[in-house]
Amino acid sequence: MNAGKTSGRDWSSHPPFLYPDYKSTILRAPKKPLVPLKQNLNELIAPVYGHENTKESDSDLTQNGRRGGEPLGERIVVTGNVTDEAGRPLRNTLIEIWQANAAGRYIHKVDQHAAPIDPNFFGGGRCVTDGEGRYRFLTVKPGAYPWGNHSNAWRPNHIHFSLIGPTIASRLVTQMYFPGDPLLALDPIFQGTPEKARQRLVSNFSLDVTEEGFALGYVFNIVLRGPLETTFETH
Ligand SMILES: [Fe+2]
Repeated sequence: MNAGKTSGRDWSSHPPFLYPDYKSTILRAPKKPLVPLKQNLNELIAPVYGHENTKESDSDLTQNGRRGGEPLGERIVVTGNVTDEAGRPLRNTLIEIWQANAAGRYIHKVDQHAAPIDPNFFGGGRCVTDGEGRYRFLTVKPGAYPWGNHSNAWRPNHIHFSLIGPTIASRLVTQMYFPGDPLLALDPIFQGTPEKARQRLVSNFSLDVTEEGFALGYVFNIVLRGPLETTFETH
C-alpha cells in the first residue's frame, strides 16, 4: 500500500481563526502561533469509522424525523460530488448534515429562537458517496435565524456539512449556502471566508436536479484535501 501524504492546505482560501466581526472568534482564536505537527502514518492509512452504519433512509430528512406527519417547508434536493485535490471522485465518503427547519429553528436546548419547532423534522441526515463520489439528500430549505452576533444579525439560509474522506486528515466541516441570498453580504461567517473562495460555499440552483411538481434542486460540489495516493486506488 502506498499511503502517500497530504499536501499542505492553501490557508489563503480559508477564514482566519480571528475575524473580529464574527464575535465568538475573539475568544476562540488561538493567541499564540500554531505548532505544526508532523503527519504520522496512522492519520494517512487508519480506517475511519461510521460509514457502514448508514441506511438509505438517513439521507431523506423529509422522512427520518416524521412522527405521523410531513415536515413543513419547501422540499429541496441537495446533491453533488466529492473529489480529492487532484479532481478524482472520492467514493465511500461519509457526509453528515444538520440544519434548521423551514422556520429557522434547530431542535437544540440552546436554540431559543421564537420560531416553531416542526414535530416532523429532526434536521439531521447522513449518507456515503457512491462509486463515482456522488451524494444526494432530500430535505426542506432551512430558514434564516437571528443569532445575536450584532444588532439585527441573521444567518443566511445554510446547511452544515461534515465530511470524512478516506482518512481522518481529510475531515472537512463547512456550510453550504443558497444562491442569491441577500443575507450573504451581511454575514460575518460567510464574509470571513476569503473572497476568492467564497463562491465555493454557495450551491447552484439546477433545473436538471429539480423534480417536477416535487422539489427544487441544488448542486453543491465538494473538494476534499486528501492523500495524493489514496488506498482505494491501490486495491
Ligand atoms: Fe447553523
